Order: sequence, then structure tokens, then C-alpha cells
Amino acid sequence: MFKLADLQGNILRGYTNKPHVRYLILEVVERSAARRWLADSVSGRNGVPQITSGDWGEKKPDTCFNIGLTYEGLCALGTPSASLKMFPNEFIEGMTARAVKLGDVGRSAPENWPAPFNEPKRIHLIATIYAENVDQLNEVQKRALPDEKAFKLLGTREGYNFPGDFVHFGYRDNITQPRFEEVPDSQRHPDRQPKAPLGTVLLGHPTNLEGLTWRVPQPAELGHNGTFNAFRVLKQDVAGFEKYLDRAASDLLKDSRADELLPPGDEEKIGKGPSRHAALREIVAANLCGRWRDGTPLALSADAPDPNADLTDFDYVGVGDARCPHGAHIRRCNPRGGQIVQRIANNSRRLVRRGVPYGPPYTYDPAKPRDQDEPERGLLGNFIGASLGAQFEAMSYDWLNLGLQDPRTTGSNDPISGANDPGTSWFDLPLKSGGTIRLRGLPEFVSTRGGAYTFLPSLKAIDYLGSQMM
Ligand code: HEM
Repeated sequence: MFKLADLQGNILRGYTNKPHVRYLILEVVERSAARRWLADSVSGRNGVPQITSGDWGEKKPDTCFNIGLTYEGLCALGTPSASLKMFPNEFIEGMTARAVKLGDVGRSAPENWPAPFNEPKRIHLIATIYAENVDQLNEVQKRALPDEKAFKLLGTREGYNFPGDFVHFGYRDNITQPRFEEVPDSQRHPDRQPKAPLGTVLLGHPTNLEGLTWRVPQPAELGHNGTFNAFRVLKQDVAGFEKYLDRAASDLLKDSRADELLPPGDEEKIGKGPSRHAALREIVAANLCGRWRDGTPLALSADAPDPNADLTDFDYVGVGDARCPHGAHIRRCNPRGGQIVQRIANNSRRLVRRGVPYGPPYTYDPAKPRDQDEPERGLLGNFIGASLGAQFEAMSYDWLNLGLQDPRTTGSNDPISGANDPGTSWFDLPLKSGGTIRLRGLPEFVSTRGGAYTFLPSLKAIDYLGSQMM
């Protein structure tokens, strides 16, 4: 029997009313003290913040607290080698060893990651605090780490949700998540995608790949109801992104085919006033993502943002090639029912995403010269699924960076988060009459500044790791 109370709370449902998030990146100092801490975190004894479960009842707690363990963390806690061997290879190797598959090359290469991510073997546990304000974050951190007997704090990362779920680059995010069989999800908009079987994220449950379940590391109390997370610190070049939109719009102004994207006289419909350049910038931004910046899906409203459009209830089946580019970020990440080369993979790579922006909001000002000393901005992203290899990595490698899902995208990278090189990158804007306008020179807008693969154990597993003498 499946119970939400057995799982950590941020897996199947999100803490949407907790705008402040802090990650504590920890190294086990002393095995038995760390184990006691884990056992205490399940019950909330001895001042240790209590792990928030998936069943928070009527009212979410004021603060939420969750943990993930790396492979090195499981080793440091003394997990028996017979169990360790049953974890999947990509988790055992860790994120840095998988760099090429993830597009973590060049600037994004792990050799360039700042502390604490420059010493990945020392990262054992990542604890996450969600709160309504910074005082609460500080209070929970103090209780979690009263001293350095159990853990050493290697570093922190902190983010804050902007109002309206907007993220850097100006898009509304956090709209689409898988909806799960057996889980009440009153928060989520209904859509026409099939509900995801629990095995999409939870080990020990059926997946939507016929007859296939992912291996559960044994004993069952350790592996069952656990899942994996790719935690990513993704730096966003927000000024560079806006500058690229400027350039692309200027090029389109000189291209008569752009009248198909924006019939002369329709500028105001885009919502940026009468300027044709400003409207073309938004059209490019919408095509790169597959959504207008307010969230309107292009698949439902290709010509202009529509405040009344349904945000989630759409599919790419029957959507003519001209409406939403095959290479747009959301179409690459989730082709929904649309035709793809790897037909069996439709709906099988779905991920739970829990992300929060970091760094101050950016205000676009075309008159302002680019400031080299801009503060760092980006996204602290969590990409959660039962198989890092078949979901997060396959999506990153096959779809975002190789474009293998459709011959029309193959050889190009995702325009928003892909490892683009301005010398070779391209993106096709589809035209209503058929054909495309090819944008070139896309730089890498997003670069990786750290991360780790973690196992998100069930509450029973945390208790097991904390209490059992292994
Ligand atoms: C800083 C980097 C990124 C930014 C700014 C970004 C932005 C966005 C935005 C604005 C959306 C649309 C909102 C929504 O549908 O909820 C979206 C959707 C999505 N993104 Fe990203 N993203 C980033 C990186 C990634 C990465 C690295 C992955 C996976 C490896 C990813 C996977 C997804 C998925 C699965 C969706 C939902 C698509 C759907 O189901 O229709 N994103 N992203």
C-alpha cells in the first residue's frame, strides 16, 4: 500500500507557499553522530528539524525540511556494500563523471565549478530548508547544525521564488508537472497527458514502460519509495539572453519573411506597444521556449499571448509544424503525444521539477551597456525521477543536446539550456507557409556551476540508515 506519509514531502507535491529555499551541503564528520541525526530527523527529536513527509495534512508546516544523500554519503554512513552495489551506475559514478552526457563541458565543466562542488567526493548530504522568510531559514539551519559533531557545512546555496512564478529570462515557470496516479493533486491544472504511474518517480512501483520497474536497492526498507534527484546550479546569462533577442529581432526586421511571424499592423497584439522590434523580440523568446513569457503555450496560441489560454491542456498531436517549433525548450523536454523518433519514449522521461531562482531580478534596459560585474543569477534546479539515466540524462543528452527526437532538430542544442556554441548553433522559426527562418549564433545562455546526484530516501529508509547497525 502506498502512503504519502512514507515519502519525503517535496517529491510528489511541491511546497508552493514557501518562497525561500536554502541548500546546506554537508559532509559526514562522524558516522555514528550522523546516523543519530538521521534517526532524530524522522521523529524531530533532540532539536533536529523534522523531515517533512508527503502527508502534511490540512496545513503545510511553517517550514519544510528534506534531505538527499549522494553515493559517497551512503558510503560514509556505512551502508552495506551489498546494498551499495545495487544502486544504478550513474548514481554511483556521480554527476561530475557524467559531464559529457549532461553537456557539462567548456565553461560548464566540473573543473570550473566553485566550492563546494569542486570537491564532489566530500559532498555527502544535501539538506533543503523551505520557509516563508530568511529568519525561519536561519532558525532551522541552527537546529540542523548546532555544532560540527555529525556534519561539516561545506557550503550553502540560496534562492527565492519571484512573484507569479517568473524566473530569470522572464518566463513564467513551474507550470507543468506530471500528475500522478493515486495522488490527489488539487493544486495542478488538469491536462490531457496520461497520468504518470508512481514508478515514474518512486522505486518499487510500475512505470509506463510495459512490464518494467527500476531495480530497488535492498533491503526493501532502504530502496522502496526512494527516488533520485539531479540537483543543478545553473547560471543564467540574463543580460546575454536579452541582448540575443535584440539582435535576432534586428535581423528579422530586415527579413521580409518575418511578416509571416508578425503581419504588419499586429505589433500591439504582442503586448509590448507599437514597436515592431519589441514585438519581434517577444516572438523569438516565445519560440525558443514554446511558451510566451506569460506562460501561454504556443501550441494553443501561436500568434500572441492569450491571458485566457489554458496553460497545460494541450498536445502536439495535430499541431501543424508552424505553431510550436520542434526545437522549442518545452517541446524538446516533453514531446507529449507528438511523433518522435523514439516513439516508445513518449511520456516515459517525465521529471518532477522543483526549481528556485537565485540572484537578484534583472531589469532589461536596452539603453544600458552590458555590465561585466553583474551579480550571478540562475536557477537552483532539482530534476527528480526514478531513473537518472533513463529520464534526466536521456532528456539532457538525447533531446536537449542532440535533438534526436526529430530529424528537424537533430544536430542542434536546446536554445535555452543547451550547450550551444555561437559558431555552429541554430534554431528554426517555423513559418505558416512552410519553411523556416533559421536563427544562428546562439551562445550558451545557461552554464553549470555545480550539482550532485542524490538519492531521496523514504522516511523508513532514513530511519533505517539512522538506526540500523550495518
Ligand atoms: C536555467 C535553465 C532552465 C530554464 C530557464 C528553464 C525554463 C523553463 C520554462 C520557462 C519552462 C516552461 C514552464 C513549464 O512548463 O512549467 C520549462 C519547462 C520544462 N523544463 Fe526547463 N528550464 C531550464 C532547464 C531545464 C533543464 C536542464 C531541464 C531538463 C534536463 C528542463 C526540463 C524541463 C521540463 C521537463 C519542462 C516541462 C515541459 C512540459 O512538460 O511541457 N529544463 N523550463
